[in-house]
Amino acid sequence: MSGQELCEVPYHVAIVMDGNGRWAQRRKQPRIFGHKKGVEALRRIIECCGKHGVSILTLFAFSSENWRRPPAEVSGLQRLLFSSLVAEADSLVSNGVRLRVVGDLDPFGPDVVDMVQRTEHRTANNHKLELVIAVNYGGRWDIVSACRKLAIKVAEGNLSSDAIDERSVAEALSTSTLPDPDLCIRTGGEYRISNFLLWQLAYTELYFCEVLWPEFSEDDFVEALKWYATRQRRFGKTQE
Ligand code: IPE
Ligand code: IPE
Ligand code: MG
Repeated sequence: MSGQELCEVPYHVAIVMDGNGRWAQRRKQPRIFGHKKGVEALRRIIECCGKHGVSILTLFAFSSENWRRPPAEVSGLQRLLFSSLVAEADSLVSNGVRLRVVGDLDPFGPDVVDMVQRTEHRTANNHKLELVIAVNYGGRWDIVSACRKLAIKVAEGNLSSDAIDERSVAEALSTSTLPDPDLCIRTGGEYRISNFLLWQLAYTELYFCEVLWPEFSEDDFVEALKWYATRQRRFGKTQE
């Protein structure tokens, strides 16, 4: 099944990579073991995007609400995330992947912010795949930050409140310049958005599957692409 031609490939795929903890617990392993396996799945799916013609991949890696987990899991996850970024930087550069990180990085300190910016800069001229990683990201945080940016412009006299429209809000979001996702996949069997891209998912096709993220394979990804290809996207219009 892998590698076959698909009639319509989504330009932008977003993924809620869920199920790492349960995958590990079922194997009587600590949850961080599942997160480590999850990084392997992530590499696999980045490759699949190149192979199947997906142009933008946005991944939910750590939510604004994930701070509520036990401190050991939170710190383990963050260490894994940023060390993987450092370890993968060269291969992103050589594989034509452009990196962008969205979310509130301030709590991680200036060293992490600096490392992320350097990697973004190093990959800025790559065009094969745009990889967007959402870290300490929440859809509500994104909308609130956008409101604040616009309010500052209004207060400074650089924007009239009447000029605020969907476009100016979208441009003030952390995903500005990116088109909205066409397809959002959530693994792990939960049927919810969990505060991911609330504004951006308005007309996205939502695909939920039971597979736990560490086991999400190329065939599972192709299954989601095939399902997407059967969708009729109407955006409020009629079929005609
Ligand atoms: C998703 O897996 C990864 C993150 C939230 C960072 P989980 O850790 O939520 O795994 P489950 O849902 O508990 O199995
Ligand atoms: C969503 O998964 C966040 C990420 C995948 C990063 P969660 O596991 O945190 O979501 P809930 O708590 O089940 O809604
Ligand atoms: Mg989960």
